[in-house]
Amino acid sequence: MMTGDQIRQLFLDYFAAKGSTIMPSASLIPSGDPTLLLTSAGMVPFKPYFLGQATPPSRRLTSCQKCFRTTDIDAVGDHKHLTFFEMLGNFSVGDYFKKEAVAFAWEFVTRHLKLAPERLWVTVHLDDDEAYRLWHDMVGVPPERIYRYGNKDNWWGPPGAEGPNGPCSELHYDYGRELGCADVASPAEVATCQREGHPIDGCHPNCDRCERFVELWNLVFMQFYQDLNKVRSPLPAPNIDTGMGLERTAAVLQGVRTVYDTDIFRPLLARVGELCGVAYGGSRETDYAMRVVAEHARASVFLIADGVVPGNEGRGYVLRRVIRRAVRFGRQLGLEGPFLGQVAQVVIERMGRQYPELAQNHEFILRVLALEEERFAERVTVGGGILEHTFIDMRRELADAFPRMDRAIEAAFTSAPDRTTLIHQVREHIERFFMSPGFQHVLVVGGRDILDEVLRPLRKPLEQLWSDVALPDVHTDARFGQDPSARYQTFIAYLQQLLDDARGALNDLAQRLKGVEAFVLYDTYGFPPELTREIAREHGLGVDMEGFER
Ligand code: SER
Repeated sequence: MMTGDQIRQLFLDYFAAKGSTIMPSASLIPSGDPTLLLTSAGMVPFKPYFLGQATPPSRRLTSCQKCFRTTDIDAVGDHKHLTFFEMLGNFSVGDYFKKEAVAFAWEFVTRHLKLAPERLWVTVHLDDDEAYRLWHDMVGVPPERIYRYGNKDNWWGPPGAEGPNGPCSELHYDYGRELGCADVASPAEVATCQREGHPIDGCHPNCDRCERFVELWNLVFMQFYQDLNKVRSPLPAPNIDTGMGLERTAAVLQGVRTVYDTDIFRPLLARVGELCGVAYGGSRETDYAMRVVAEHARASVFLIADGVVPGNEGRGYVLRRVIRRAVRFGRQLGLEGPFLGQVAQVVIERMGRQYPELAQNHEFILRVLALEEERFAERVTVGGGILEHTFIDMRRELADAFPRMDRAIEAAFTSAPDRTTLIHQVREHIERFFMSPGFQHVLVVGGRDILDEVLRPLRKPLEQLWSDVALPDVHTDARFGQDPSARYQTFIAYLQQLLDDARGALNDLAQRLKGVEAFVLYDTYGFPPELTREIAREHGLGVDMEGFER
């Protein structure tokens, strides 16, 4: 089995043999690049070379770069998303271009990694005939495995608000037909859909409905500079920037389906398992939580080692989010008290040789983690408790109580022997509904204002209903028409409409948290809105973030 460390070395050695200088990984904090929060790709440290602003040590470079992508934090825990990962790359600063880049990539994956060529599928940009010909004529990839996509998939960059970019071409690995969601669409069908902007029927290399294909390597044919106004101009020379995900490559080479089953993550999951007494692979929920803890612990170690400390904005907030998310999922696994340091130890032991900054900052990393965990533990316990046991439970309770009231009122409409009894019964049902203990809890934690705001849309039609039932004389109220015999029916239909409105308001309440609820959690209890969103989602609820912002 080839380990992650071996793959990294093999890659760097291969490109060194092609005349590339091996560059050390730069910091996760991009230097001199105010447009980027964190280093998100292998090319980031080389931007000045590509732009002709600095001279590289060699026109051929290769590296294994620490990368961090913030876009998917909330998705981490599933089978494929990571925040922190290592990107293997080879770079040409005005030296070789498409032909060599394609030839190197193919030689490396087929001869050195020994991947079966028939498992490799290729994508090129819709308009990039040259790349198509290279894969087809020079390398010999059959046409049925070369797909063309538009800008969304096959144009890369700029990273941040401005910088180099260009069309790209990707190598995807095929885990096998049996994992596909459908028969594959042909390259011609996919190209037509892409040109005409239609969704693609059938499976294909960029399919996101199933786990059949995984993108391994992206070759960017960097030809343009895009400025802050999105205007593109040609670069001083065409360049090459490639990126291959180390963790995904390890998964493919180790014959496993996810990055978490590789030698890179298994020891971390094993430590998490020891701590909480749950074996990885036990259940969907615990696996998810264990992956979150392992991934976020690793990511935090690397961020802290590069000098990021928890804070309320920018990089500090990214770090705070991943630590807090890890703590929260740790709690789900039954981990009480600070535990991240114990997972961090394994990360430092395993990766400290490749990344000496981890070992050098060992003490500091553990201290920062412990402090932030303690600070947060209290807030999670209090705020999370209120969210789940007050706001969310209230909805559950209403989901039971409302239909009971609804049915009882409807029954009263038809069965009450006279108006006085009807008034009496409707009032009693509504009062009983509003006495639900759930409402009383909301009152206790959030005060009258929050209760009013949450309930206003529901309360309005019910209060109207109540006062209209009590109208002194339906027979003289002009709203219900002139014909005496039809009046009472119109009146009941009108009351039913009010009940319908209340049902609509309840539905909205049952589907999402109000902005004010998320805000009270944040403002009074220090509970972060993204956690509110995530916990809400686990309960099938959305959050009115616009209302929160307001
Ligand atoms: N910059 C490209 C990417 O991140 C290739 O390295 O995919």
